Amino acid sequence: MKKYLVIGNPIGHSSSPLIHNYWMKKYNLIDSVYEKKKVEEEDLESIVKQVRDGKLIGVNITVPFKKKIIPFLDNLDDVANQTQSVNTLFKPYDKVTGFNTDVQGFIASYTKDPAIQYDNKNVFIIGAGGVTSSIVFSLILNAKKIYITNRTKKKAEKFKDKDISGKIEVIDWGEKPKVCDLVVNTTSVGLKKDESLGLDFKEYENNKNVLFYDIIYNPNETNFLKDARLRGNKTMNGKMMFLHQAGLAFQKWTGIYPKIDDEATRLLD
Ligand code: ATR
Repeated sequence: MKKYLVIGNPIGHSSSPLIHNYWMKKYNLIDSVYEKKKVEEEDLESIVKQVRDGKLIGVNITVPFKKKIIPFLDNLDDVANQTQSVNTLFKPYDKVTGFNTDVQGFIASYTKDPAIQYDNKNVFIIGAGGVTSSIVFSLILNAKKIYITNRTKKKAEKFKDKDISGKIEVIDWGEKPKVCDLVVNTTSVGLKKDESLGLDFKEYENNKNVLFYDIIYNPNETNFLKDARLRGNKTMNGKMMFLHQAGLAFQKWTGIYPKIDDEATRLLD
């Protein structure tokens, strides 16, 4: 049996087993199984060892271990290295390698829609956690300006410290930049149904051109997105990013790029 795993804490919300097992069946990989496991930080080394020993073929990493896993790995791909964020483990030859498929997953989620382009646009990013570096990395080349706010300001400032493009500006929590074209929630607030960021976006009222994007896909409409929809803004949840990052991980492990079609999309509803 070829074993695959997604690890995180919490892990209950993850739909990775659902989609990967669906693709494994669809593409006739009958000797493969994908499970989820809630782990603690002290378990990370042993998970990597299981990949090294071939007991696990592939692993996905989710909150809050995307950075914490790095010291235990033999190798990082270029994007994982630049973002210091790993969501996929695989041993292609003799080194357990950490890959980042979140960046390509995020870009694929909106570039498929020609109406949504962010070249030379202003972006407001909320959060400075494990996945934020992937969102910043995806956007920084083409965006005009990236504003970042985080409850713990120091973590947002780390992005500014590394930025040589001069495009990043840190905003105090509760303060807002001028109206941006894209507002992305990268925090974990909203994973629990009733949670709210408590930021107010009154000045975005009836602005149909702004996209509010939440990387959370379960629940499929967080309060962040619900409020935006009621205000008249465009909204997108993290479902397409999730499917694309999963598809890219699946391709690394199996060599097959799975079709991201209506059936796959509906699985997550
Ligand atoms: P890590 O920071 O360890 O990478 P994460 O789960 O990837 O963990 O990131 C959580 C993100 O959600 C952080 O930006 C966090 O803000 P802090 O850096 O201030 O902790 C944010 N977050 C979590 N709970 C929050 C809350 N109740 N209000 C605002 N932001 C919150």
